[in-house]
Amino acid sequence: MGLKSKDLLGMKQLTAEEIMEILDTAKTMKLVISSGNKKTSHLQGKSVVTLFYENSTRTRLSFELASKYMGSASANITTSGSSVNKGESLLDTARTIDMMGTDIIIMRHSQSGAPHFIAPHLKASVVNAGDGMDEHPTQALLDMLTMYERFDTFEGKNIAICGDIYHSRVVRSNAIGLSKLGAKVSVYGPRTMMPVGIEKMGIRVASSVADCIKDADAVMGLRVQLERQQKSLFPSVAEYAHFYAITPEMLELAKPDAFLMHPGPCNHGVELPTAVYDCDQSVINEQVTNGVAVRMAVLYLLMARRNNL
Ligand code: CP
Repeated sequence: MGLKSKDLLGMKQLTAEEIMEILDTAKTMKLVISSGNKKTSHLQGKSVVTLFYENSTRTRLSFELASKYMGSASANITTSGSSVNKGESLLDTARTIDMMGTDIIIMRHSQSGAPHFIAPHLKASVVNAGDGMDEHPTQALLDMLTMYERFDTFEGKNIAICGDIYHSRVVRSNAIGLSKLGAKVSVYGPRTMMPVGIEKMGIRVASSVADCIKDADAVMGLRVQLERQQKSLFPSVAEYAHFYAITPEMLELAKPDAFLMHPGPCNHGVELPTAVYDCDQSVINEQVTNGVAVRMAVLYLLMARRNNL
């Protein structure tokens, strides 16, 4: 029981068996969340720190709630209000948190590879909560949990992902994880937002939203990440919505029992209209709940490895 590595840096580092262990553990954790008493003692006597260099609502809060539900001491640091704003380096900041006896550091950073850089220098386990345009493994795991609750198997399932593919660490982590479990990923978005050579990851690049979504078992919209664009990559929001949004008509092309996902936060009226965000097929709110369950599972399995050493 437990993960093989000290750290959870990306879906690249997880085996198919480890992914399934996290998903199965998260199913159990979901029972804790839905019970009247959310307190467990799995992390009693342990400490968890969230270190966020980028904004977050879902990821940070769900990690903080997950660690509190499991009885750990938890604290958070953001760039504003910490010595990061006095120019302290990433490594010095991480080492300072480590030397206070922290067991798990959960970090989000705008630089791809930042958690991989600090992890070998620390006793604490490092969890990647999103690094630049590289990976967001716990988002992919919660997305996969949401699918796992509806699929008997991932093998051969068609997953359609539409939107800003280039800037999305979510699509990269999902593509890696879903491929390991035998699902097939198709993507579509503006050419200016499509990474060169993405097909080498085993992803199919569709020719239109309709081509991407047709016969899909699950459909995911992605946020247009304006904050990562140095210059505009599409003419206008209206044109983006016209050519690339997941509309009710597009969603009808998916399989009849397909469901709609979005990692959040959503630009309503851009990547999808509010009517789709709120439609009967939408499981976006359930993804949020599953985020807490998956993060409880990750913390539990990382701590199980530490306890077994
Ligand atoms: N999906 C996601 O990572 O959301 P936050 O930025 O709110 O954490």
